[in-house]
Amino acid sequence: MFDFQDSGALGDKSRRVREMFGAIASRYDLLNHFLSANLDQRWRQVCVQEMEKRIAVPLPKILDVGCGTADLSLAFSRLGRVFGCDFCRPMLRIGAQKTVQTSRRPPVFLLEADALALPFADASFDAVVSAFVLRNLARIDRGLGEMRRVLRPGGFLAVLEFGMPRVPLLAALYRCYFLQVLPKLGRLLSGVDGPYGYLPASVQAFPHVEELKKIVEQSGFENVRYRRLTAGIAVLVVGQGAHGA
Ligand SMILES: C[S@@+](CC[C@H](N)C(=O)[O-])C[C@H]1O[C@@H](n2cnc3c(N)ncnc32)[C@H](O)[C@@H]1O
Repeated sequence: MFDFQDSGALGDKSRRVREMFGAIASRYDLLNHFLSANLDQRWRQVCVQEMEKRIAVPLPKILDVGCGTADLSLAFSRLGRVFGCDFCRPMLRIGAQKTVQTSRRPPVFLLEADALALPFADASFDAVVSAFVLRNLARIDRGLGEMRRVLRPGGFLAVLEFGMPRVPLLAALYRCYFLQVLPKLGRLLSGVDGPYGYLPASVQAFPHVEELKKIVEQSGFENVRYRRLTAGIAVLVVGQGAHGA
């Protein structure tokens, strides 16, 4: 049982998040694609397309923070050299199997690392991307600060997160699915009270997209824009590492 009511110290939340993803790693992809009707893959593709429009350097060096089972890393590997990092070893192990099976050129490199203390030098990447990770972080500002630190000035950031639809009827239907159906279905299919039990609470506690945009700006990014995907079920926030930050 994962209790997030009392989030406690930073390390405590991190540990619980890591254990939670570790418990469902072998079923994560299946659950994700099934419970989102494969929309998650579509959102990752949109993220790649938006970054492709922006990144001008040939063979860019890209960091995928909280890469999990490496779907976003693999999607980005057609643009450049991708480094995926995550602090949950079982998730990385699945990701590693997938990168071997797909044998991408250039290859995708995966490593175990904490998003709140990235083991990279300042300004090492041309782009930093992250999907469905921010709301899991014990400190969003610290996570974004680390992304900013390792991004070169003028480099690009892309963050995918869940949102809530704005159209009232759709919002009501989605809320019912999201709050009532999804946690039960996730628990039934995964056998644990893991991320799908905690997903609704974590999304509801997460800043609204306008607020998230401000937090991203305050973390040292400029030209910050957002795009609602699938009527707002997901949001994509993009920005640029500020020059001279
Ligand atoms: C919802 S999954 C998303 C995985 C992947 N980005 C995707 O699109 O499927 C969240 C991932 O973030 C990772 N994560 C959460 N907090 C982290 C942290 N502090 N450092 C590194 N990884 C973290 C988890 O281990 C998990 O693999």
